[in-house]
Amino acid sequence: MEQNIPSREQAYDLLAKYNKSSSLIMHALTVEAVMLHFAEILGEPDKEKWGIIGLVHDVDYEMYPEQHCIKAREILKDHSWPEEYIHAVESHGWGMCSNVEPDSRMEKILFTTDELTGLIAATAMLRPSKSVLDLELKSVKKKWKQKSFAAGVNRDVIEQGAKMLDMELDFIIQETIKGMQKVAERIGLKGDL
Ligand SMILES: [Fe+2]
Repeated sequence: MEQNIPSREQAYDLLAKYNKSSSLIMHALTVEAVMLHFAEILGEPDKEKWGIIGLVHDVDYEMYPEQHCIKAREILKDHSWPEEYIHAVESHGWGMCSNVEPDSRMEKILFTTDELTGLIAATAMLRPSKSVLDLELKSVKKKWKQKSFAAGVNRDVIEQGAKMLDMELDFIIQETIKGMQKVAERIGLKGDL
């Protein structure tokens, strides 16, 4: 089957076809923004690809939570997505729902920041402003240490990702916050600011 490079619009349409939950759509937009931000600061030439992969990484989650990462391959293949994109989507669930290890820098950033966005969003919601716009690194670090807070966020995965990237955890958290700030309104984290 012929493979074509998906556009952002095609990626969004696919996401919307398989996901009706607004919180899942917002999560997808969050990860898209973070991927775009990292592509920018790392000087990656194909930013659009990074964004698109962020956008669709959980495409199968709402309909097939038990076959997460497995169904994604089928869905993307059915839509003739390139293998590179499919591999990247699968690898975000390495050790959780797939055995595809993140290989490229793009894949490692996705693997590392996906969980982290959950911790940042939960921390932002606790602020008086309910906003990510005035959220500081130290607040997230404080909540990082409180394992009972946002307990579903697997800190080990994030640490493992930082190690794979050979990047400081603080840098990754700070830049993930910045990426989320760029789309604060769209992801419901503008709060009162
Ligand atoms: Fe995700």
